[in-house]
Amino acid sequence: MGVEKIAMLDIFLQNSTTILVFIATVLLGWYIVTLSRMRNMPPGPLPLPVVGNFLMLAQPGVTLLTLFPALTAKYGKIFTFQAGNKPVILINDAKLVKEAFVKRGDITSNRPQHYYVIKKIADKAGLGITLSNGQPWKELRRVSVTAMRDLGAGRRSMEESIQEEITEVLKVIEQVKDSSMDLKPLLMKATSNVISHMVFGSRFDFDDSKFELLLHRLSQATSVNALFLPANFLPLVRYFSRDEDHFIRSLETTSEHIKALLDDHEESFDEHNIRDFVDLALQMKKSDLSGRHFQDLNLRRAIVDMFNAGSETTATTLQWLLFYMANNPDIQARCQREIDDVLGDGQRVTYSDRSRLKYTEATVLEVLRVRPVAPFGFPRYVEEDFELHGYTIPKGAVCFANILAINNDPDVFAQPDRFDPTRWFGENGEVTGRDRVISFSVGPRSCVGELVAKMELFMFFTSILQVYTVLPGTQGKPVDLTPLLGFISKTRSQKLVIKKR
Ligand code: HEM
Repeated sequence: MGVEKIAMLDIFLQNSTTILVFIATVLLGWYIVTLSRMRNMPPGPLPLPVVGNFLMLAQPGVTLLTLFPALTAKYGKIFTFQAGNKPVILINDAKLVKEAFVKRGDITSNRPQHYYVIKKIADKAGLGITLSNGQPWKELRRVSVTAMRDLGAGRRSMEESIQEEITEVLKVIEQVKDSSMDLKPLLMKATSNVISHMVFGSRFDFDDSKFELLLHRLSQATSVNALFLPANFLPLVRYFSRDEDHFIRSLETTSEHIKALLDDHEESFDEHNIRDFVDLALQMKKSDLSGRHFQDLNLRRAIVDMFNAGSETTATTLQWLLFYMANNPDIQARCQREIDDVLGDGQRVTYSDRSRLKYTEATVLEVLRVRPVAPFGFPRYVEEDFELHGYTIPKGAVCFANILAINNDPDVFAQPDRFDPTRWFGENGEVTGRDRVISFSVGPRSCVGELVAKMELFMFFTSILQVYTVLPGTQGKPVDLTPLLGFISKTRSQKLVIKKR
């Protein structure tokens, strides 16, 4: 080796040592700052600079549905997942979630407006009920609660509109009975129509092409888990991943679609005859200051929200119910015996019948427990430091209720992996402890549609089993019960055989 080369190698070695020392010092500094910031926060895996714990999700076969249960098993009731440099806290225990979201609901009921995707949605499509905060959120939420509670659809009760959809669903099933069918599209139409009754005071014909298009757009919007996209936490990712665009585009197109329906409705508005959600919102828009939250974009987004949050969630849970029945014929037969005893052949079910259809109601609860459609709920932004389980939850952190872990907590549900409706029975055979399932979350920001969803699930399920028995689509092969996680946790599309009893 020549003298020059040796000299260059020497310079390189000296410089590379300097570079390495520099990198090590930066890393050490980063760890000291980060770990001191994380002092007394809930435990969690050691984060890396810039990406935090995100690389854990980059391993093959790992999704939130596998990673979070594994972290729950390791860290217990609460853990921190470092998303980039932002702490995300998963609460895995029902009492702690109630403490955080109910008792401290004053500081944990907002959505994280700093999320990149939420900012983009705000600009392009409006925030609606699910993503807004403060006064706009309060007003929009109030209108939706009032519409569900007081108005019904066109002054008919929510129960009547559910009955009407059941009749239509049974008509379609009757045409295909004894052969196999993917029920999801049909159930989506029925549950969306329940929302449509509430929002617009009318239903769509199942064959209406505008309706088909609306449903197609809605289901596109739920294919991506937009609130957990790395782009929310890792600025670099935004340059080469556009996953959120798909989600936002489908919100925009659905919103456009809603505009046409809204225009029709506005023409027939009569302030002395408030018929539904839209009329209530139009009344507020015309009346006072709070009406500013009901300007076109936000009102349209609130309507998209009701469809988005209310139809696929309920249709998917109904499909889970039927999938579980196909795989558990004894449980299905016991529900049917009970339904026959209480309702006989032709009597229509009402929601109040659940006091006599105890095993059937317990079966619905058991499915809500094992297959929560929003397994980690929606994100909550922490407005102030607070103490939880001896840890500090810092201002600026984002909390999720780990609903999946809570519904499978072995301290609350013995042998949680067993599908067993009788776990809901108290000593005297009555259904007890319904609030142990927190699939609708808790506190001021919990699901607006919990009651409507429970009515739909119980009444649709009972009515279908009253007339039909469901079996796996392929003889001898059980239905695949593995969930697929998008914006919500969905079923895999599969057919069921629907046999007339
Ligand atoms: C099985 C069916 C359903 C389940 C499991 C479910 C679950 C949930 C969950 C976990 C949340 C997040 C709450 C939180 O931030 O902690 C939520 C929010 C919401 N749900 Fe549901 N939901 C269902 C059906 C419905 C229905 C039928 C409607 C409408 C009629 C609806 C309307 C909403 C709305 C508007 C929100 C946003 C509330 C807010 O941000 O203030 N949901 N739901």
